[in-house]
Amino acid sequence: MAAIWRKLRDRVKAMKPFVMFGTHPLFGDYVDAIHAVGGYLSRVVLNVQEPQRPAGQKFQDRLEKYQSWLRATGCSTQVKVLWLDDYSVDPDETALLGFRGTKAQPLLDLVKERHGVTFPPLVHRSAMVSPMSELHEGVFVGAGSVIAPNCSVGSFSLINRGTTIGHDNLIEPHVVIGPSVQTASSVHIESGAVLGIGCTIREHLVLGAGSYVAAGAVVLKHVEPGHLVAGVPAVSKKVLSG
Ligand SMILES: CC(C)(COP(=O)(O)OP(=O)(O)OC[C@H]1O[C@@H](n2cnc3c(N)ncnc32)[C@H](O)[C@@H]1OP(=O)(O)O)[C@@H](O)C(=O)NCCC(=O)NCCS
Repeated sequence: MAAIWRKLRDRVKAMKPFVMFGTHPLFGDYVDAIHAVGGYLSRVVLNVQEPQRPAGQKFQDRLEKYQSWLRATGCSTQVKVLWLDDYSVDPDETALLGFRGTKAQPLLDLVKERHGVTFPPLVHRSAMVSPMSELHEGVFVGAGSVIAPNCSVGSFSLINRGTTIGHDNLIEPHVVIGPSVQTASSVHIESGAVLGIGCTIREHLVLGAGSYVAAGAVVLKHVEPGHLVAGVPAVSKKVLSG
């Protein structure tokens, strides 16, 4: 028995530490992906107070769940939570952006300028990214997603669980793509667009900057920048502010 615990402890010791900047309800998905690539979460750097949400767990609950699981694997490491002003670089740590969208840019500018932090892409081990596709800085690809050949995924974009990105897609920075989305070939998704869970996008379309595709929509026409589209087929419902 002692040998098993020793083995587990040694395995955890050999794991790579990650530092997460900011946090979001996708915390568990990020942590799953970290472990799937042989890492563990060592520190979380907070930059703002957690927003009040009407339902669901808080960051502290998620952290405690992770911490107790970590303890069960024989790892006594305590995840450190600190404020941005108290952060200093640990060269062993790999950095991960813990929330997404264009609102992350000021935080990224600051940690890059002040601390020289860089953010490699993080891809869950069960995802399949074509070697002919390119993932830029800080991209996250969740469990079971597929990125077909000849795509470019812009910096800090996120592709959630079980999504398929068709071949020749061009995805600009800070795009957020929900779970179980399907995009056909040659789709161009401009900066900061959001694709809700389970939507489908026809081939050769442009989704404009800052647009939002509602959950379950089927998009058959270009989407103007800043528009919210919904339904089957999707129609513009409103222009989003900011
Ligand atoms: C689009 C969404 C964000 C709602 O945004 P909102 O600004 O609150 O919009 P509203 O609820 O005011 O809806 C605006 C219009 O779109 C319609 N609408 C919104 N979501 C819709 C959907 N998924 N399907 C069909 N119509 C939808 C509303 O009925 C309303 O129509 P109307 O103006 O004709 O009455 C939300 O419905 C949604 O789809 N979220 C996706 C969440 C998601 O995928 N999360 C990922 C989890 S990891």
